[in-house]
Amino acid sequence: MMNSKGKESRIPDIICEAGDLDLESGLSVLLRRYLDAMNPGEILVVRSQNPIVEHEIGPWCRWMGHNLCGSQKIGSYSEYWIQRGTATTLNITEKPDWDLHPRRQKNGSISMEDWRVGRLAFVPEEASQTVGFAPRGAVREEGFPGYDFRINRKEEVWSEEVAALYEHAAQNQWSAAKDIPWGDLKPLPELLERAVCQLMTFLVENEYSALYVPGKFISRINPQFTEVVLFLGTQLADEARHIEVFTKRALANGGGLQYSATSTQMSLKTLYDQENFTTASFLLSVLGEGTFLDLLWFIETYAPDPVTAEILRRARQDESRHVRFGITHLKFYLQRDTTHSQKLLQAVQDRADYMRSVSGVNPLVQDALVFLAGGGGSPEQIRTGMQYVHRLYQRMHKNRIHRLQSIGLPLDQAEKISLLHTPNFM
Ligand SMILES: [Fe+2]
Ligand SMILES: [Fe+2]
Repeated sequence: MMNSKGKESRIPDIICEAGDLDLESGLSVLLRRYLDAMNPGEILVVRSQNPIVEHEIGPWCRWMGHNLCGSQKIGSYSEYWIQRGTATTLNITEKPDWDLHPRRQKNGSISMEDWRVGRLAFVPEEASQTVGFAPRGAVREEGFPGYDFRINRKEEVWSEEVAALYEHAAQNQWSAAKDIPWGDLKPLPELLERAVCQLMTFLVENEYSALYVPGKFISRINPQFTEVVLFLGTQLADEARHIEVFTKRALANGGGLQYSATSTQMSLKTLYDQENFTTASFLLSVLGEGTFLDLLWFIETYAPDPVTAEILRRARQDESRHVRFGITHLKFYLQRDTTHSQKLLQAVQDRADYMRSVSGVNPLVQDALVFLAGGGGSPEQIRTGMQYVHRLYQRMHKNRIHRLQSIGLPLDQAEKISLLHTPNFM
């Protein structure tokens, strides 16, 4: 097949005009561009005006696994005949996705719900430990190092609504500095200001647990479940903002952070110690943040000033997403494994056993709720406030049962779990 100059007599498949590039100035980039698009065995003819290439191209071909099968000088340039070898730039033979056309929003943006196209659409039931941080959808080279992701099964983290919840979170971020009308805050009677500050203190400590619990799981979740990881990222941003805004409210009217009770810390420690994501999501998001939705609604409704009410309204909107993620994740999980409901009941029972020494709601928190709802500290105001607070507890119980049923638990189990739920609310 070779002619007198050592060149293959067959017709070249592709011709590459290399100008005066040498390896130093980028010839290898150009050659890879051509050779990566060719099949093994095909011939690339490289035309070069740079005499140095004659010395460089042979070793380069050997190094890259291609075969330099001939060359000839023609006037001011030289031709080099390269037969493409089987090696690729990366150790990959598959071709990546191309020509994908996900659905677009009116403004041209792509919603996370619509990015499930091509390879990206495939959410694995069991994600490999050796896919590393390669994004789902990318074509991976072989030989990745193994990672210590511990949550690798879809049912352990997934929610059918997670992409929509992420979009909602991304579009509804707000700023404690810019979106709260702090300048409108007016002085309050001391009893009510102290009540607000006590409630802010209680909210902040609970928010820490809502920040730390998902935070500790993120690094364990296989990045193939990227929607979940990103959603939890927004949850961390939300909880950080809640800590910020509640702390600022405690300070804003000349008060300060108040008392933190051991019973609260005992309850929060049992959340922090959870090692199973689904159980933690159940205790924190479905039960804890779920109950907090009613608590935040109550403080918003009876807030003694519109600035505090606005803070609570915004925090509640964020919390409803966290609760929704918890509910939809638990629903997904229980549909796959109904036996897990027994483990959930056990987790709540264990918590109740641990909390046995604590009876009822933290009295400082309850008193603050009563003063707020009654509008002050006179006997008549306290009587009214107490009635509203009792109604709040009934509402919390009723809504907990409703949420527990919505994840797929039967009514009797839902009632039992709701009654066992921690008196700390979270
Ligand atoms: Fe929060
Ligand atoms: Fe939350």
